[in-house]
Amino acid sequence: MRPLLSCEGVGMRFGGRSVLAGVSLAARAGEVLGVVGPNGAGKTTLFEILSGRIRPVAGRVFVDGDDVTALPLHARARRGLARTYQSPVVPEGLTVGEVFKVARQAYPPYLTAHQAEWAAHQVGLDARASTPAGSLGALDRRRLLLACLLMRRPRVLLMDEPAAGLINAEVDEIDAIVRFMSQELGVAVLLVEHRLELLAAIAERVIVLDAGEVIAEGPPHTVFDHPDVRAAYFEIGTPQHP
Ligand SMILES: Nc1ncnc2c1ncn2[C@@H]1O[C@H](COP(=O)(O)OP(=O)(O)OP(=O)(O)O)[C@@H](O)[C@H]1O
Ligand SMILES: [Mg+2]
Repeated sequence: MRPLLSCEGVGMRFGGRSVLAGVSLAARAGEVLGVVGPNGAGKTTLFEILSGRIRPVAGRVFVDGDDVTALPLHARARRGLARTYQSPVVPEGLTVGEVFKVARQAYPPYLTAHQAEWAAHQVGLDARASTPAGSLGALDRRRLLLACLLMRRPRVLLMDEPAAGLINAEVDEIDAIVRFMSQELGVAVLLVEHRLELLAAIAERVIVLDAGEVIAEGPPHTVFDHPDVRAAYFEIGTPQHP
């Protein structure tokens, strides 16, 4: 099956320093692809490039086989590419219902209230329309932001550390949402995550980035036991996030 999202030979430099070199990956519909690596390995930078926030200095990005390397973020969003950020920043002054309204009307096609309610229900955020977004806890903030993406029925979702700042019971909620999106909706999910047990549970494949290069790729348990990965990730690069 043709991958929904792929990249080939992606390279990035900041100042004179190389932070990504020759990174290639591919994710199919319904697949959860884990992306791990020590702090500073280049995971978020890779998401910046895949989502279209920044242009790579080398390599190409494809959505459903089309070269989107030159397309900006909003054009990729229209092709079904969605992305979450490491920090769940919400508009503090708006209520949940107002946030949904802004999201529905952010760009054409404008969505119905029913479509937003469907998304809210899928992430477990029903009947919270009058709650100020600024009063939501970390899990509900992530739910709110996910619902804003989900209402547009993305085909690819890039999730940057969705479990950061959550307690274990809350991580199970994220786990369930990711499973629903991949298994029920057929979304290709790329998941940057330091909690390896979460990845081991829901990712079919994992790639390991170290100092901007892919050093291993395969099923989670095979990859996590690989000596190079243990050296790069477990022994030298200790994750800062618990
Ligand atoms: N805009 C930027 N300008 C300069 N350097 C940057 C910029 N963004 C990232 N970097 C550097 O690029 C490297 C990769 O950073 P990146 O945020 O992609 O790592 P990461 O794997 O997401 O790390 P973490 O696990 O801490 O989130 C780091 O050394 C970082 O300091
Ligand atoms: Mg990061």
